[in-house]
Amino acid sequence: MNVSININGETIKSATEARTTLADFLRDQQELTGLHLGCEHGVCGACTVMIDGSPARACNIFAVSCEGAEIRTIEGYENDQLVNELQHVFSENHALQCGYCTPAMLITARDIITRLPNADADRVRLELAGNLCRCTGYSGIVKSILVILDRRRKNLRK
Ligand code: FES
Ligand code: FES
Repeated sequence: MNVSININGETIKSATEARTTLADFLRDQQELTGLHLGCEHGVCGACTVMIDGSPARACNIFAVSCEGAEIRTIEGYENDQLVNELQHVFSENHALQCGYCTPAMLITARDIITRLPNADADRVRLELAGNLCRCTGYSGIVKSILVILDRRRKNLRK
């Protein structure tokens, strides 16, 4: 089947099997390997990408179901100021170890910060519930998001 999807700002037209998941389509056919596969059944969140402006699992949706959609993968955030800022605070706060969950964590963290500017620690933890990390214990990830939320609130008050 043919599918036309906007990926990171560029419209891609490609043939793919009806059974190909968006995750496999992005990784194997588009060489966008920043998204990772963990559970492959919608639990771990390692495959999170943005679909039409919302975080979504790429492992449990077919590529052909995304006809006409706008997809943004972690590669599409290379020059994004907020993701760059998150990368710095993740590093400072030991928010990653093996890094397997990190691309998806960055996408989710960016979504939390832009959608919930007044989120507190409990809300951040709730919003992160769909992204599993087997290394860090989450404290550094939560702290990183709170640091940026706090920074942005202070900047707004200036
Ligand atoms: Fe998609 Fe785990 S690989 S949710
Ligand atoms: Fe290893 Fe999160 S840093 S799974």
